[in-house]
Amino acid sequence: MLSLTVNGREVEVDVTAQATLLHLLRNELGLNGPKYGCGLGQCGACTVHVDGQAARACVIPAHGVAGRSITTLEGLGNRAHFHPVQKAFEDAQAAQCGYCLNGMVMQAAALLAREKHPDPQRIRAELSGNLCRCGTHVEILRAVELAAARMSTEGIRP
Ligand code: FES
Repeated sequence: MLSLTVNGREVEVDVTAQATLLHLLRNELGLNGPKYGCGLGQCGACTVHVDGQAARACVIPAHGVAGRSITTLEGLGNRAHFHPVQKAFEDAQAAQCGYCLNGMVMQAAALLAREKHPDPQRIRAELSGNLCRCGTHVEILRAVELAAARMSTEGIRP
């Protein structure tokens, strides 16, 4: 039995030795925010926070996160209380099919939690490992810049 904290709640889950963190979250806990894209750690669709750091859930062994704190998109915010990054994506209409959005939002939220004033180049570099097949990158970068501005100049915090 594996014990960890997911979105602020302590959980115990029985998974195989081969199970990934993404499998645990989606298949055992029903958290479908993180998506299965490449399964190789290369597209970013599965991004979650492990102890506050953005990480690729598809390549992390579930048993490797025993005792750690995991945050998924569901734990970042919700319709009643959006995280500023989620709100900025909505306001900037930075979505087409939406498959990459989990990763984009989680990666951006981790960046803005540790850096108050990232410039556009820094944001671009941070999101360079997150792929969007629809080509919505311009709107996505604009949304993250909007969130960064709101969080730094207007003092809006999660
Ligand atoms: Fe994990 Fe692509 S599904 S990085």
